[in-house]
Amino acid sequence: EKGGYDYFMLKEIAEQPKAVADTLLGRIDPSGSLTLDEVRISPSELREIDKVVIVACGTAFHAGMIAKYAIEHWTRIPCEVELASEFRYRDPILDGRSLVIAISQSGETMDTLMALRHAREQGSKVLAICNTNGSTIPRESDAVLYTHAGPEVAVASTKAFLTQLVACYLVALYLGQVRGTKWGDEIQAVIKDLSRISEEVERVLETMEPVRALARTLADKDTVLFLGRHVGYPVALEGALKLKELAYMHAEGFAAGELKHGPIALIEEDVPVVVVVPSPRGRSVLHDKIVSNIQEIRARGARTIVIAEEGDEAVVPYADHLIRIPATPTLLQPLVATVPLQVFACELATARGNEVDQPRNLAKSVTVE
Ligand code: M6R
Repeated sequence: EKGGYDYFMLKEIAEQPKAVADTLLGRIDPSGSLTLDEVRISPSELREIDKVVIVACGTAFHAGMIAKYAIEHWTRIPCEVELASEFRYRDPILDGRSLVIAISQSGETMDTLMALRHAREQGSKVLAICNTNGSTIPRESDAVLYTHAGPEVAVASTKAFLTQLVACYLVALYLGQVRGTKWGDEIQAVIKDLSRISEEVERVLETMEPVRALARTLADKDTVLFLGRHVGYPVALEGALKLKELAYMHAEGFAAGELKHGPIALIEEDVPVVVVVPSPRGRSVLHDKIVSNIQEIRARGARTIVIAEEGDEAVVPYADHLIRIPATPTLLQPLVATVPLQVFACELATARGNEVDQPRNLAKSVTVE
């Protein structure tokens, strides 16, 4: 049932190109417009929305963080994203014009369920992004957009995450389409890139051997730090979460812009720091700032592991290890940048003799608060 792989996690990582393609399937028509049948909230209701609030836990929360960048950029609707466990108990401000998006692979996470129940009590519409047909969260929501990742068995979420991202992009683009905001060439170009993205994920998977080899050399480290900016920030958080759950190592993700506000004090000789570099073509300001961050941490002795787009030569002098990913539009980069981090964590777990599919103390779905 593991299809020849040692672990479900490896199989699920390998299934990502297909999972991504399946989640897009039938949702973009040849003219480039989107049809999301399962979103049973009418276009006129969606035009009334004045705020989007995303609630989720763990990896799904990281997908939500990335969704915020896409939703605000493409639709200009204010979007908040919050851990479901925090949201529920702080008396959030919601009403009939708020759209709440609950993201959950299992559809059974208690904190996310409680958050959506609370939202519906306030009269908000709830859209679930979920991987498990007929589970509680979609059943209790007004609408659902299913991710088509197929069953995810390993506790550490991989293919579900990538498909959650795809679903979030689809929702953001759909909101843009029905509201007519920014619905122009940029969006059409993004839709085109999105429909090709599964091939890019495949290409990343084909180049993962050096990442595995690198991970094996770090098995005796205590700490790995992750830095990112913009959508690379949630990717850094996701890389750190994967490493915690699987390798039981101290791992932390930071927004690179925060370095000087504290985290840089952690940099010492030979500490591995993974840096997710934004595209130099899109927001080149962000790219340049991160390149100087890499210089700064390297000057303090960090071992820099740099994830950068093909053709980005500016990072080369400062990268002790360079992991190349295909060029993608800025907002879509997490779909390719996360994959090496999954492989990295999985390999480190194996090298440290940990149980990959069933990490200690964790359950696949957390059905208690
Ligand atoms: O089933 P859900 O997506 O609601 O689960 C949320 C988290 O429990 C889950 O993503 C968890 O963080 C994973 N083990 C991460 O790999």
